[in-house]
Amino acid sequence: MLDTSLIALVETQAERLERLSAELFEHHTLLVASNRGPVEYQVSDRGIEGQRGAGGLVTAVSAINRYVSPRWVAAAMGDGDRQMVSNAGGVAIHWENESSQFDLRFVTVEKDVYNAYYNTISNPLLWFLQHYMWDAPRTPVIDRQVWEAWDAYKQVNAAFADILCHEAALAPNAPIVMLHDYHLYFCPQMLRQRGLPPGSCVTFFLHIPWPGPDYWALLPHPMRREILTSLSQCDILGFQTQRFLRNFLNTCLAYLPEAHIDYAQQCITLDGHTVQLKTYPISIDVRGLMALANSDEVRSYRQRLRAYTGDQTIVRIDRVEPSKNIVRGFQAYEQLLETYPEYRGRVKFVAILVPSRLGVEEYQRYMEEIMVVAGWINTRYGSDEWQPVELVVGDNYGRAVAAMQLYDVLMVNPIIDGMNLVAKEGVTVNEKSGVLVLSEGAGAAEQLSDHALIVSPSDIIGTMEALRTALEMPITERHARATALQGQVAREDLSMWLAHQFHDIKQFLQAGAEHSP
Ligand code: G6P
Repeated sequence: MLDTSLIALVETQAERLERLSAELFEHHTLLVASNRGPVEYQVSDRGIEGQRGAGGLVTAVSAINRYVSPRWVAAAMGDGDRQMVSNAGGVAIHWENESSQFDLRFVTVEKDVYNAYYNTISNPLLWFLQHYMWDAPRTPVIDRQVWEAWDAYKQVNAAFADILCHEAALAPNAPIVMLHDYHLYFCPQMLRQRGLPPGSCVTFFLHIPWPGPDYWALLPHPMRREILTSLSQCDILGFQTQRFLRNFLNTCLAYLPEAHIDYAQQCITLDGHTVQLKTYPISIDVRGLMALANSDEVRSYRQRLRAYTGDQTIVRIDRVEPSKNIVRGFQAYEQLLETYPEYRGRVKFVAILVPSRLGVEEYQRYMEEIMVVAGWINTRYGSDEWQPVELVVGDNYGRAVAAMQLYDVLMVNPIIDGMNLVAKEGVTVNEKSGVLVLSEGAGAAEQLSDHALIVSPSDIIGTMEALRTALEMPITERHARATALQGQVAREDLSMWLAHQFHDIKQFLQAGAEHSP
């Protein structure tokens, strides 16, 4: 449980953000763009129903809504979204529920164009590259089909840019355009080419890692240059961590020789335009999460999950995603049971897994690998009375929060991850002074490493030893670490993520106003 001074701190931060937003948006209109929108429409027997969009990006960006009501431009991903577009006849769709309201503009393109953009370029090619997931001797294979999909990727970006420019022209005030993530790399340049009203500002926030220049060499030269050139056309370019920001500077140094790269000021100038690079570590809505953690729904899941816990319980919560390193996590647990038999019958591993991107073959295969390794551990170390691994598969956030409250050890061991919000959510709601075992590859390690046990994601033995250290840690040390982690997350919560961006936008706009004739 968070102590009252942390709750008061979070509230003060939110109030500060409220004042800042009121000032900024008195004379500006906010446009947000991301591939997945805040609402997804499904066609069912009952007609078309809207549901909150899934995933961390949508959750974080939706929090803007508490302070300002943006116009959100997103891709029509399924038939329900497309149906809504034709029903709306080209005007914005208004969405409202108890906690948020948006005006939503869907971008629609031909299904096969969208498929190439999403299922060939965004998810396999860019996601795999930026999470170091290629098996370099064999993949990627950039063949004709990928080059054609590259054109489709640009086509979808152009459709986004068209709608954004249209909305910007209609906006009552100069627009602030906040672009999100690797699906939209071409939007900054396309917005400049189409032109935005004077006094506007274009920001881009990258939620995922940015690898170093050598790894970018796996993409053909024209592709990487085009991405870098476009991103240099933003006004502010945000990364999760300093490491990713430095990698970006190094990548520009390697592949954009005509750009002026200022390491000290962290900015890049190309064709007379300067982009300021910044870090904004994304975080969680502490107040909202605590309210959910205290709800009847979560209490009832907690009761049910208790049947799965042991004398001590290791928990992990992840999308079924190869970069999350779920298989090696199980291998480390297996080593623990093998090396220290006294834990058999006592320490359980509860894995809450959310199926993801099943349209991509590697993800299907990864799910199978997880099943195999978990099944093997249960066969080898389980008995009629005791099962070491409990796999809970499905997308249920309330249940995931309940599991976070119950852990003695939270395993977050991704190979590489933009941030990893489970690490932040876990330490906020956990009720057992549990220990965080955290990969050095998670963006969250930049903020949380002092009080977590840091592991190398490939190191099964090191991870096993970290699990053992966590399980044996005296309660006073557990408590001290858990309290420090809670404080760290509360001080840099989601309102701070937004406040830092709004503050920098405000400064950028003020500087522009001073220099304009
Ligand atoms: C995760 C990442 C986001 C990314 C999203 C895309 O949530 O953290 O940065 O935008 O995946 O997932 P999707 O299911 O929309 O393809």
